[in-house]
Amino acid sequence: MRTFSVLSGPNLNRLGRREPEIYGTATLADLAKLLRAEARRLRVKLVFFQSNHEGALIDRIHADADRGVAGFIVNFGAYTHTSIALLDALKSVAPLPAVEVHLSDLRLREPFRHHSYVQAACIAQICGKGFAGYVEALGLLAARTAPASR
Ligand code: DQA
Repeated sequence: MRTFSVLSGPNLNRLGRREPEIYGTATLADLAKLLRAEARRLRVKLVFFQSNHEGALIDRIHADADRGVAGFIVNFGAYTHTSIALLDALKSVAPLPAVEVHLSDLRLREPFRHHSYVQAACIAQICGKGFAGYVEALGLLAARTAPASR
């Protein structure tokens, strides 16, 4: 069974309490529950990891690739806008596909959030759809990596 890795960057552990007017009141655990249900429907597996540390996220990308995950759903939080190292980490595990997700719509926010370094290594960027964006990302990854039917 294919396994996808869901990576969450800094401050996303505070979802539910963090700027609820932007990010809502549901938690990262709520997101995992929703995605697990969707994964069951699609007959795929998920592994989750959140860190507030750039290097820990990079190490996890390498480790997940080495243990054979089929792709990544990534929300690197503010590192999205700063981290060439995370861009390179995703490139280092090519051709594994990654989908970039943001809960909020980056384009409607401060100019410093408009640019994503990691977008260049992702097959899609989904913004501003809240948790539904993650469900969409999982659907994209599942379709992209589906074994060819005989
Ligand atoms: C975010 C958007 C980023 O700009 C911000 O730093 C976050 C969350 C989002 O999901 O909307 O931490 O990635």
